[in-house]
Amino acid sequence: MDDLLKRLKQLEDEAGADLRKISGKDQLEEFRIKYLGRRGAILGILDQLRRLTPDQKREVGQRANLLKTKLEEAFGELLQKLSVSTAAGQKPGDSFDYTLPGRQYPQAKIHPLTSVTNQILEIFYRLGFELATGPEIETDYYNFEALNIPAWHPARDMQDTFYLENDYLLRTHTSPVQIRSFESKKPPLKILAPGRVYRHEAINVRSYSTFYQVEGFYVDENVTLADLKGTLFAFVKAFYGEQTKARFRPSYFPFTEPSAEVDISCILCQGKGCSLCKQTGWLEILGCGMIHPNVFKNVGYDPEKYTGYAFGLGVDRIALQKLQIPDIRLLYENDIKFLGQF
Ligand code: PHE
Repeated sequence: MDDLLKRLKQLEDEAGADLRKISGKDQLEEFRIKYLGRRGAILGILDQLRRLTPDQKREVGQRANLLKTKLEEAFGELLQKLSVSTAAGQKPGDSFDYTLPGRQYPQAKIHPLTSVTNQILEIFYRLGFELATGPEIETDYYNFEALNIPAWHPARDMQDTFYLENDYLLRTHTSPVQIRSFESKKPPLKILAPGRVYRHEAINVRSYSTFYQVEGFYVDENVTLADLKGTLFAFVKAFYGEQTKARFRPSYFPFTEPSAEVDISCILCQGKGCSLCKQTGWLEILGCGMIHPNVFKNVGYDPEKYTGYAFGLGVDRIALQKLQIPDIRLLYENDIKFLGQF
């Protein structure tokens, strides 16, 4: 019996030393087979109890079972530890804690003006419009003259202009893209021209020295005001939702006749009157009209044969209304905290 007790003591020391060396699941499995397996050391000892007296059996048996429980517990603990750390990709001895949350890197987002522009373009693409662009530095001719705004015309005051040298200027609207498209193409044409424009205006919550527009125009034989109305009303429903109402309000632009501005029922109060719509129930979103015969004459289109419509959407105004942004300047200051909200 003494030899068995001595052997148990040895096993305990040996197992302790083995446990300290284990660094992976394979080694742990070897440990289990060696000590706790069906041919393992512990069962090997219990097997030999047969040759002992009942008293001796009890003593050695108890000690052997105690050691077995101890080793089983150590095995269980180690197994759990190894499972957790291998799940996180960690090896014992690594000083790096793979379970720490990752570093946050700022993620780029689409600017609200870009995303509103894209939404507008997408709706008109579906209605068959193609894309065109024009330069931001324009000549007096394209920005004004060809659009039926001669130098003496009082309408020049509608759009305060940044003049550059030699008859150049910063375009005050995207309408010069109409002229450039007419010059390079023959009807029928159905075009969208998004872009940045500039005006020499006092800066405040609602107006800034630069902003964005989306110009649209369609020229063919027999294009009517009803086509314009149908197209714009379809746009309003698609962009703002079926419940939104739209109305044409007579207006004036030198390059369209008749001219109108389009209002939509206030998206905040549904027309009841609130601070966004200044109690009117309506929000202005664009100017439009039937292209003036003089514009067609200037580009060599026959005004007896062709008619067409044009409209110019104010992207900033639409974005401010839709996203409920209280100050246009926020769109140009590029404050990350502001832009991160959209
Ligand atoms: N260009 C006009 C503006 O900037 C808008 C407009 C475009 C009006 C096309 C009629 C037709 O105010």
